[in-house]
Amino acid sequence: MFQHLSPLAPDPILGLMQAFRADNNAHKIDLGVGVYKDEQGSTPVMRAVKEAERRLLATQTTKTYVGPAGAVQYNELVAQLILGKDLAASTQSRRCTFQTPGGCGGLRLAAEFINKSNPGARIFVSDPTWANHIPLLGDAGLQIATYPYYDYATHSIKFDAMMTALQQAKVGDLVLLHGCCHNPCGADLNQEQWKAIRDLALKNGFTPFIDLAYQGLGDGVDEDCFGVRLLGEAVPELIVVSSCSKNFGVYRERVGALTVICETPASMKASSSLIAATARGIYSMPPDHGATIVEMILSDAALRSDWESELTDMRERINGLRSLLVNRLKAAGVDRDFSFIQGEKGMFSFLGITVPQVQQLVKDYSIYLVDSSRINVAGINDANIEYLVQSLKKVLK
Ligand code: LMR
Repeated sequence: MFQHLSPLAPDPILGLMQAFRADNNAHKIDLGVGVYKDEQGSTPVMRAVKEAERRLLATQTTKTYVGPAGAVQYNELVAQLILGKDLAASTQSRRCTFQTPGGCGGLRLAAEFINKSNPGARIFVSDPTWANHIPLLGDAGLQIATYPYYDYATHSIKFDAMMTALQQAKVGDLVLLHGCCHNPCGADLNQEQWKAIRDLALKNGFTPFIDLAYQGLGDGVDEDCFGVRLLGEAVPELIVVSSCSKNFGVYRERVGALTVICETPASMKASSSLIAATARGIYSMPPDHGATIVEMILSDAALRSDWESELTDMRERINGLRSLLVNRLKAAGVDRDFSFIQGEKGMFSFLGITVPQVQQLVKDYSIYLVDSSRINVAGINDANIEYLVQSLKKVLK
């Protein structure tokens, strides 16, 4: 049965985690997988998460099944977190939110649901996009098309080319947009660009599909939902997949959500039943532990305010590191202009170096980053920045 199989190449992102762990170089730096790291290079459990977990262990009385949609209160609180209270309320009769096993589970559930409703539907994704979007959406049966997004030469969004390509997206097509903190390039749409996309969606009738994996790590918890809320107010149908992995730091607990706004309450009812049946057919129901922690934090004023304040510190640390890297490269006499890194958002930016240069950083200096030259800025700290800057300087010569 399995004799014909040969091993696949390691996952382009997760493979770096294993390679980094196995490396004995004391100077090694992990700029690979998108997890937040503090000044000590650790990914700590957030204070509010620790406290909610403590309370949960003390008070939980049952581990019985929850159901394919997950917890009702979690779903409502997450809908309010991403849409804002007003839009969550005004769309209530035609919206459903499903707790999912992380953002990946949400993306796959959405793709399977779309494919059951419209087999082989076409989804336009940005070029580049997060590597895992392709299998998560494509393996469910969706046809992947691309639209130009990032200009590697000018380090900016090719907005005109993007809009020209999206003229092809019509009724029955979907357009995948990164809600904030674009993965992998860090270049986000501005408010005018979001408005132009909204207008095009209304004119041509495609369905926007927003992946919101980094809420709170760009400009702020509400600010990062500008696009989600703008489209949610305007378009008849919207799909949003959100993740709590990064902003609550509950990566391995697998906490996410799929929110679907439909044109009418009747189509929401039908869609909701199809999503539930789809979840039941894939994983039956999502894991509970992390979602209950998120629910406890969002429903308790003190925990929520502590969570927001720690998230603010994380965001400000990342933004500070962006400036620090640019300034230290300049101070070290590196000719190339890296100032674009300062204006990008979230954990990621491309260094804009070649694949052989990336591989040299990995092999000769134990600095781990994705072949595309995507770095996780949060992996930089005071103790490793000099080594990073000097290594990059040598590789660029
Ligand atoms: C990343 O892009 O590094 C993260 O989203 C982790 C992952 O699963 O790829």
